[in-house]
This record gives sequence, structure tokens and C-alpha cells, in this order.
Amino acid sequence: MNLKEHIRGIQDFPKPGILFYDISPMLAHGEAWKTAIERLADAIRPHKPDLLVGIESRGFLVAAPLALALGIGFVMVRKHGKLPGDKIAHSYDLEYGTDTIEVQADAVEPGQRVVVLDDLLATGGTMAAAINLLRQVGADVRAAAFLVELTFLNGRDKLDVEAISLLSYDS
Ligand code: PRP
Ligand code: MG
Repeated sequence: MNLKEHIRGIQDFPKPGILFYDISPMLAHGEAWKTAIERLADAIRPHKPDLLVGIESRGFLVAAPLALALGIGFVMVRKHGKLPGDKIAHSYDLEYGTDTIEVQADAVEPGQRVVVLDDLLATGGTMAAAINLLRQVGADVRAAAFLVELTFLNGRDKLDVEAISLLSYDS
């Protein structure tokens, strides 16, 4: 199955000149979505994770079914102010301003092997921040995995772990 047939390019979103890669058609197509999750599961399994991590919000779409497929749990990295209880926060720079992500302080046991999931790798800023945050709670981050990678933005250069992606676009 050619999974790229289930990704839709939308011009000028969210800003003029940006080509947005929309995964909605893949999510809506049962066979394509199942195939995507199975292929990602096969790529992640050799890293033997104890736990997966999903990055809010589209990363949750990928992390939840993958955790079921691999028979392990998953943890949420959320945007500021969404998680209850004791948390660790990490702020990082955006093109304009900063953003903050958080994880619950007891979400990962020190030394647990984790693989971090997001739907898309663009500049790599979001994933690099999540990896930094997870290390602060003691995680042994083994890999970062994505459905889609925009290779022309060189996001994987910001990551010091293996980057796994199912589908790449070079423009
Ligand atoms: C998008 C996407 C990734 C991130 C990739 O999330 O889902 O998380 O941007 O960009 P980067 O590699 O340049 O950091 P977004 O912040 O738009 O929010 P969403 O997942 O809640 O839709
Ligand atoms: Mg996102």
C-alpha cells in the first residue's frame, strides 16, 4: 500500500507559502491507518521500549494505537497548564516567542527506555524539547518516531537519537 496516497497537501496553510501535509485522510481510512501503525510498530520494536511518549496533540494519535500494538503503556507530554499534580516543565524557543511543555514528574521511572512519537518532523524544535524534558525525569530516550518527515527542514539534525519516519517529503 502506498501510504502517501492518504496524505493530502494543502497550500497556504497555516500561512501563505506553506504547504501543509494533512494526515486526516489517512486517519479516516481504516486500512491505511492500520498499515501505518503496523509499519511504525515494526520500526520501533527493535528499540525495545518500556514506554512510549506522545507529544500533544497530534502525537497522541500515533502514540496511543502504537502502545496497544506493542503491548506497552504511553505517557503524555502536554502543553503548559494541562496536566495535574507534580510536573516538570521545559521552555523552548519558537520562531516568535517561546513555548512550554510539561510531563508529570512520576510519569517515567529513571532508566526506563522510551521512544517518543509525533505525527510530523519539521524543524525538530518540538521533538528536541520533548527529549530534553524526558531526560529531566530520568528517561533513557532510545528513538524519536514520526509518520511524516519534511527532510528539507533538516529537523533530524537537532535530534541526538535515531529518527524514524515512515514517509518523507523533500519540498
Ligand atoms: C506540529 C506537529 C509537530 C510539530 C512539528 O504541531 O504536530 O508536533 O508541529 O514542528 P517542528 O518539528 O518544527 O517543531 P503543532 O504545534 O502545530 O500542534 P498540534 O500537534 O497540537 O496540532
Ligand atoms: Mg504537534
